[in-house]
Amino acid sequence: MAAINHILCTSAIFLILTAFSHAMASSNHQPIKGVYYPSWVAQDFSPSSIKTKLFTHIYYAFLTPNSVTFKFNIEQTEALFLVNFTSTLHAKKPRVQTLFSVGGAAEGSALFSRMASDLSYRSAFIHSSIEVARKFGFDGIDLDWEYPEDTTDMVNLAYLLDEWRVAVQKEAGTTGRPLLLLTAAVYYSSDTFLSGAQRAYPAASISKNLDWINVMNYDYHGGWDPSATGAHAALFDPNSNISTSYGLGSWIRVGVPRSKLIMGLPLYGRTWQLKDPRWHGVGAPAVDLRSYGLCEMEDHECRALWMMMVLDQTWNLCS
Ligand SMILES: *[C@@H]1O[C@H](CO)[C@@H](O)[C@H](O)[C@H]1NC(C)=O
Ligand SMILES: *[C@@H]1O[C@H](CO)[C@@H](O)[C@H](O)[C@H]1NC(C)=O
Repeated sequence: MAAINHILCTSAIFLILTAFSHAMASSNHQPIKGVYYPSWVAQDFSPSSIKTKLFTHIYYAFLTPNSVTFKFNIEQTEALFLVNFTSTLHAKKPRVQTLFSVGGAAEGSALFSRMASDLSYRSAFIHSSIEVARKFGFDGIDLDWEYPEDTTDMVNLAYLLDEWRVAVQKEAGTTGRPLLLLTAAVYYSSDTFLSGAQRAYPAASISKNLDWINVMNYDYHGGWDPSATGAHAALFDPNSNISTSYGLGSWIRVGVPRSKLIMGLPLYGRTWQLKDPRWHGVGAPAVDLRSYGLCEMEDHECRALWMMMVLDQTWNLCS
């Protein structure tokens, strides 16, 4: 399926509003309404323009650790921006919490796979992530590993989450500071039956160690399958299991508490080239695309469209 076959949802809008999430948090029954802030739009769209009354958590997308040391090296310009990001959002009324998201679709899987495979690598990554969170004033850390590719990755992901939880707990204990949040962006379904090796997420470790997960309920259909158009974030599909109702149901069936499931909504489109313009409904035959078929931020028309959507009263996400 989509994002798995096509990790190339490079930067772009894909991640922009990937998860405008909504659910009830376990601890205090406040709804979680998170949004990913794509750092590459900063020039058009400063953190101060985010309407914080619409959200509870803003994710800075993305930071990536060094691929050899698995530690974060933040350059001066970005460091200044990160401080600005967290302080601006914390000062807003209402205040929102800030997390930084690690990885993203453009980063792919290999770095995470290597990092998670070894205790000393995991430890370097975990400690560096906590250091970054504290240094720049974040309230938490989000793992966006797209995607663990086999059973070994899934087992190592469980170790990573176990050790991360212990580390944040210990850090809060010794410093007396509020516990950092730990979250992750995950595949739409708890097991990946559509492509690649059969593998299931470590549900027990996820339930125990993460505050919640941002389920990527999108990219069900797209230009990678040009045979027919499709609803890329279908809530329900009577003919297949490629839908949000199936996906969230699968997470519930493996035991992840409903209170920890945040449904991700995409605020971007997918495009096809129709075989016959007169036949244009969902499921209409399409032909191979000339381009990837995603409205991307690098594309000026799409960028303008997106800015209109976001800035316009239709969506009214930003002021
Ligand atoms: C910090 O944020 C303010 C308000 O959003 C902005 O005017 C300023 O240019 C920012 N500075 C940096 C270094 O990003
Ligand atoms: C959907 O998944 C269920 C098990 O979770 C399976 O029994 C069913 O056959 C699947 N349906 C389709 C159309 O693949």
